[in-house]
Amino acid sequence: MNDPDNWSDNMDDYLTFAHNGTLVFAKGALDFSGVEAKNGNKILDVACGTGSMVQAIIEKFGPQCDAQVLATDFAKGMVDAVEKRAKADGWINVKGQVQNAMDMTLPDSSFDAVFCVFCVMLIPDPAKALSEMLRVAVPGGTVTCVTWNAQGLLPMMQKAASLTKNLPAPVPFAFKGWADLDFNKEQLQAAGFREVRGVHVPGLLPLARKDIPEFVDSLPRNPGMKAGMFSSFTEEEINTFKGHMRNVILESFGDKEHYGFEAVANVVCGTK
Ligand SMILES: C[S@@+](CC[C@H](N)C(=O)[O-])C[C@H]1O[C@@H](n2cnc3c(N)ncnc32)[C@H](O)[C@@H]1O
Repeated sequence: MNDPDNWSDNMDDYLTFAHNGTLVFAKGALDFSGVEAKNGNKILDVACGTGSMVQAIIEKFGPQCDAQVLATDFAKGMVDAVEKRAKADGWINVKGQVQNAMDMTLPDSSFDAVFCVFCVMLIPDPAKALSEMLRVAVPGGTVTCVTWNAQGLLPMMQKAASLTKNLPAPVPFAFKGWADLDFNKEQLQAAGFREVRGVHVPGLLPLARKDIPEFVDSLPRNPGMKAGMFSSFTEEEINTFKGHMRNVILESFGDKEHYGFEAVANVVCGTK
């Protein structure tokens, strides 16, 4: 299910419904890492998606900042989206490249800073991906990973799923230990990073009332969720879930037109 074509096909959905949410946490991760974009330093974004970390870098340091940013993803559709945005918005030092995080064709010790936002927990062999990130970082360089700790959306999805399948809540979270900050730190330590540090970054995932139906329709199409929560759902159950989910979200909106799902990300940073 964690297939590059599925993610490429999901690019439009991702840009519409996920990008602005993950951007909040990419900004938090960039600040926590202490990474600067200057003096031609080289920054790698692993599993860039539609470019939340690239956008965070550009918004913080400017579209013509003096850093070489390489945005990589195993899904060509995602890489194309970042390159299109870079061209349209004059992000002159941003390039894209298709790369699998578990087996990158990039040279050893070639990036001052590496980021991986909301992906390591989806990868079949996360230890291999971490060792690849360590390999391509320069000695003294940093690698920063972001995973979900808690999403305000998730309890709502669990409630709608429980109503659909008459299961006792909560439906198990797909990302196993990665929801725990200490687990993330242990994984970086085991991979050989030093000075591993971590923080919880809180934020809001925005949604407008008018977008609720389309947003709910997009959830089961997300390849990460398809492989997780929805893997045991029939088509009929997915349709039933959507009805429950729209109601659960509407209840929490109250009379507001715009809503923010409260969420927390784990941000961990290690030095090579
Ligand atoms: C949840 S999205 C996160 C995207 C982006 N970093 C963000 O924060 O919005 C996960 C991304 O990981 C990519 N991905 C999944 N497995 C990968 C792998 N083995 N190598 C590289 N990219 C991968 C997917 O194509 C997708 O773009």
